[in-house]
Amino acid sequence: MAPLKSVAVFWVLAVGLALGAARLARAQRAAVSAEHGIVTSAQVLASEAGLAMLQRGGNAIDAAVATGLALTSVYPIAGNLGGGGFMLIHLAAAAGRSARDVIIDYRETAPAAASRDMYLDAEGNVLTGLRSSTVGWRASGVPGSVAGFALALEKYGSGKITWAEACEPARRLAGDGHILSPGAAAQLRNSAGTLRLFAESKKIFLNGGSFWQAGDVWKQPDLAATFARLQAKGPREFYEGETARLIAAAMQKNLGTLTPEDLRNYRAVERNPLRGTYRGHLLVTMPPPSSGGIVVLQMLAMLEPFNLGRMGHNSAEKYHLLAEVMRRAFRDRAEYLGDPDFSNVPVTQLLDPNYLRHRMDDFSVDRATPSSAVAAGLGPIKLSQNAASHQARFAQESSETTHFSVVDAAGNAVANTYTLNGNFGSGVTIPGTGVLMNNEMDDFTAKLGVKNMFGLLQGPANSIQPGKRPLSAMTPTMVFKDGQLLLVTGSPGGPTIINTVLQVVINVIDHQMPVMQAVEAPRIHHQWMQDLLTYERYGISADTAALLVAKGHALKERASYEGGYQGDAETILIDPVSGIRHGAADPRKPDARAVGH
Ligand code: GLY
Repeated sequence: MAPLKSVAVFWVLAVGLALGAARLARAQRAAVSAEHGIVTSAQVLASEAGLAMLQRGGNAIDAAVATGLALTSVYPIAGNLGGGGFMLIHLAAAAGRSARDVIIDYRETAPAAASRDMYLDAEGNVLTGLRSSTVGWRASGVPGSVAGFALALEKYGSGKITWAEACEPARRLAGDGHILSPGAAAQLRNSAGTLRLFAESKKIFLNGGSFWQAGDVWKQPDLAATFARLQAKGPREFYEGETARLIAAAMQKNLGTLTPEDLRNYRAVERNPLRGTYRGHLLVTMPPPSSGGIVVLQMLAMLEPFNLGRMGHNSAEKYHLLAEVMRRAFRDRAEYLGDPDFSNVPVTQLLDPNYLRHRMDDFSVDRATPSSAVAAGLGPIKLSQNAASHQARFAQESSETTHFSVVDAAGNAVANTYTLNGNFGSGVTIPGTGVLMNNEMDDFTAKLGVKNMFGLLQGPANSIQPGKRPLSAMTPTMVFKDGQLLLVTGSPGGPTIINTVLQVVINVIDHQMPVMQAVEAPRIHHQWMQDLLTYERYGISADTAALLVAKGHALKERASYEGGYQGDAETILIDPVSGIRHGAADPRKPDARAVGH
């Protein structure tokens, strides 16, 4: 097939839909079913890059690496070489090998020059603007994506797809270009405020300031050249070769923090996933330095005594209960979580069934518990509980982290979530490379009692230290039933990630929804502070809202910069009887697509 041609036809149709994309998107998606393998991602061309690897005999890990690299070229708001993330891998049982799960942690690390108070001015106030943790040359952690994908391919790939072959779709999509969808053109334009601050970003992503239009063939020659170098020299090129030299030189020139040593010293690491059970299912999910797995397992344990199925999917009774478990789990997140290689994270205590049974002792079916009254469950309280004292540095921002899921014919699977943090990261593109840099340093605690750009309060366990990984919410997750893989899921969305994953899981397990329904269904979010229950546009009826307000909840519809939506749960469900794979590309993202064979 001629991909550009077929995609062009798709976009011609999509242009018409885009005028009312947010509303139309939900109604336009069906699950894709396939016998062998499925890839689902936020961008159809990246899904197809992964599928091509499966069709050439590659496994789910090969496909995931090709998809992740291709997203850099076609979904630059979050797909990246200059960021980091987590890949959860399920290796199916095979001759002489039992099934196994592993995580590749390729989260960014704080540079050697980083320090606890690096984002405070002389008066101890958190810096804003170009010296901040959110924008510009000082906002980046050391990127991990190239190291992570390379480690995954080398150790867990089929051996049939080389690194150069896995990079090729990304190189081609950057070099030959691809036709910009209406959604992609809008994403570029909507981030102009940050991207225009940096000449290289303005040139590449804003067409020099005159903007790219839907239907334009958008080429990124520098990024293509970077991929060509990676193909020719291998993945360490990014950390030790010409690309590293260009990154370090630009950082030095612009008073950034990354050095050649930071790049050379970066390593992706393997971790054991967290495991927990829920109503006879096994969940395999992300441990620290993400908060995602702990928080989702805590919430499921708090929910287990309640009959959610009887409450109904979007009843006030259920939304009240969800909000109450969310606020308690996020309270613990704020207090205790950080990079376990640097901080003592009490994982066992936080997941102790006895602890979690009592965490809901003060739950009232009639009244919302004020967040200010929710104590951290394990002891000494280090964060101020007075909501009024918390300074908000920013209006809460959207995070276009991105998630993709892959299952192959042998039953191997990947749930991968990775990110630049904010949309287009720090806004900085390294001249001559096409590589956008992350602003992941904002995921650290810049100052106790001051919220980050997602409105999150975080604790001393997440303070900045050289080499440390900032606390994440990314939650790549798999669900197993009777030893068989059932569900592969995850989402972008900063702290909302965890609650999106929670709701996909309970939609499948408690509400017995088909996978597309489980992904489509409206979502809510509560993160302890601010004491606010947010919901998706069209997600709560007026009478349900009134019941929740009567219980004492403050309600707010999600902001329109997010289309009024929460997350992008690219999800695959394997039918336990037939083994058919059902891929659900989240209809909240107009360019997302599940493809299979
Ligand atoms: N940068 C968003 C997260 O890791 O949670």
